[in-house]
Amino acid sequence: MTSGRLVPYACSGGDHTASLTKRARPQDIPVRAFPTLGRQTAILGFGVHVPERVLGNAELERMVDTSDEWIVERTGIRERHLAEPGTASFELAVRAGREALDAAGVEPEAIDLVMVASSSPDAPFPPMACRVQECLGLVNAWAFDVLAACTGLLYELAIADAMIASGRARTALVIGAEVLSRILDWSDRSTCVLLGDAAGALVVGPARRGAGIRSWCLGADGRQWDLLVYGDHAHKGAYAVRDPDPHFKMNGRETYLFAVDNFARQALAVTEAAGLTVADVDLFVPHQANRRIIESAARRAGIAMDRVVINIDRYGNTSTATIPLALRDAAAEGRLHPGDRVLLASFGAGLTWAACLLDWE
Ligand code: ACO
Repeated sequence: MTSGRLVPYACSGGDHTASLTKRARPQDIPVRAFPTLGRQTAILGFGVHVPERVLGNAELERMVDTSDEWIVERTGIRERHLAEPGTASFELAVRAGREALDAAGVEPEAIDLVMVASSSPDAPFPPMACRVQECLGLVNAWAFDVLAACTGLLYELAIADAMIASGRARTALVIGAEVLSRILDWSDRSTCVLLGDAAGALVVGPARRGAGIRSWCLGADGRQWDLLVYGDHAHKGAYAVRDPDPHFKMNGRETYLFAVDNFARQALAVTEAAGLTVADVDLFVPHQANRRIIESAARRAGIAMDRVVINIDRYGNTSTATIPLALRDAAAEGRLHPGDRVLLASFGAGLTWAACLLDWE
């Protein structure tokens, strides 16, 4: 294990300002990685669903005080997709999940575990994973949701990896599904230009060719929970107030600084834990939150841009769906081959983060 200096944690309780005064410098946040043990697991197939409706920057220019030039220069985003009003996140999850099962050649009955991660879940319960289980006929699966913001998909993959490695499950379906458009304040230019709707799914099982996931970097820093929140009153919980403002809010600048440092350090830590260096990485598939974050982190970690997947221009930040979407596009562009060493990395609200290094099946 590698670790950084541990700054003492103090509970900020309901005091929204307390944690702000204790903000840790990105480089002081511990980042720890470890090699995998037990049965080797691999991604056996993936699927995505992207709603048809496209919202381009030109249309946003007519909605808020922004410009295509500002959005492209600061974020790399040119367009994003929106689900039809009234669409549930689980409906997108079902479509992506079905495509992933088909791609992997896995029957619904073979799924032992299904998870859905989301930053825009339909409700506290029932779990969206149970709705997916019903719709896809995953009769032998146990099912639950994961709330870890954009990191949710990789946290799910880590859970699936551990369950399969230890023999508690053989095959898992891991999904990220988002209708983020319904939690955006469409009059707030600082957030509404960033996000998009989509779902992505991975089928995970024992590696068929002895390849698979070699190492993990998993972490969280709860001192920084207030950087990205849902609603003005998130410090009390969304149900504690009578009239919450149910919208996505963000301290963009602090999140940006954290993300660049965290991505780079995760890349170094997780490759080292696998007994490799970043020079061995064939493809870096990062969470797509901002083109500049990805470019800066790749530069800092020493990964050339021709080994980095960026598709944020077409979808914006789709939170838990970005990594399956990026894998799908990389495969379609002929950039993903059996035996390739692939680095997946994400960060999100919480703060949370996760990365893994795997040999592609
Ligand atoms: N159009 C035009 N101007 C804008 C816009 C916009 N859409 N948004 C902000 N501005 C203005 C600001 O008002 C500010 O103006 P001022 O200088 O007159 O005050 C100026 O642009 C600069 O604002 P900054 O916030 O400093 O811009 P920055 O270069 O930091 O870019 C951004 C902002 C894109 C949000 C960046 O900080 C970022 O990407 N942060 C990380 C976001 C992220 O990773 N989020 C992940 C989580 S998403 C989730 O959890 C679901």
